[in-house]
Amino acid sequence: MEKIPSSEITPESVYLSRRRFVGSLGALAASALLPSGLRAADRFEELRKELTPLKSITSYNNFYEFSTQKEAVAGLSQGFRTSPWTVKVSGHVRNPATLDIDDLRKKFPQEERIYRLRCVEGWSMVIPWMGFPLASLLKIVEPTEKAKFVRFETLLDTKQMPGQGASWYSWPYVEGLRLDEAMNDLAILATGLYGNPLPPQNGAPIRLVVPWKYGFKSIKSIVKIELVGSMPISLWMRAAPNEYGFYANVNPAVDHPRWSQSSERRIGEFFRRKTLPFNGYSEQVAHLYAGMDLRRNY
Ligand code: MTE
Repeated sequence: MEKIPSSEITPESVYLSRRRFVGSLGALAASALLPSGLRAADRFEELRKELTPLKSITSYNNFYEFSTQKEAVAGLSQGFRTSPWTVKVSGHVRNPATLDIDDLRKKFPQEERIYRLRCVEGWSMVIPWMGFPLASLLKIVEPTEKAKFVRFETLLDTKQMPGQGASWYSWPYVEGLRLDEAMNDLAILATGLYGNPLPPQNGAPIRLVVPWKYGFKSIKSIVKIELVGSMPISLWMRAAPNEYGFYANVNPAVDHPRWSQSSERRIGEFFRRKTLPFNGYSEQVAHLYAGMDLRRNY
């Protein structure tokens, strides 16, 4: 892991007050007539008051490559090497590419996206990511007619990731999206949170964030993105096909075989709150599933 001098890390309090200032400028602008892109940014802005503290986001993690114990991940991942790091984009594309993480950061303007994260286990957070739309990267490699799905892979490195020694999961971690889902503007590749580079426990140096799906779709520490013709089989589909499907859209109406999905515990809150269809992003994504039976396509 690149050592970021602690002097360069923005304390959360400074980050928050700076953002409050920028936020009030945003509120001024919002009173005028704005193009829809900016109004979408306002919707992310509304979540700012619900932000989960940095401490919770970085100390309560699912990253099975390091540990199945959430509180152990941060400690075990501290020495994780994220530089040099490349992401290979291949498959049914006209311009395959292997991109260096620093080039990726420079090539695509980094923007802030405040998103809800709803884990399939029934807890949730609100996280201020830094990143760029996955669509921007996909457009550059130019998917061909044959590309129907996008398959993602996490680094495989049993030396650095002790959890990959556990043989009951098929490593490396694999996830997938349908191409039109991947092109939706909400799907981003995140490289930072709270204004700083991603810490290892949150998927450094680059991870997917698909806020309308259960958190397990948001695959961490990506080294490979492949455009493919058929539906990828994810690590979770292999591990428990009757519990985890390909789509994994947040859906309060469809229970997990072992627990209800109708409510969630927002980290830091006492009472459970209702889980929203598509995690509150129906307006932006429900059309992707028109005519589909979401009980069967869970
Ligand atoms: N990616 C990899 N490679 N390995 C994992 O174990 N866990 C997933 C997802 N991405 C996981 C992963 C799950 S279950 C969740 S809820 C989110 O990461 C958690 O992200 P966070 O720790 O940044 O909150």
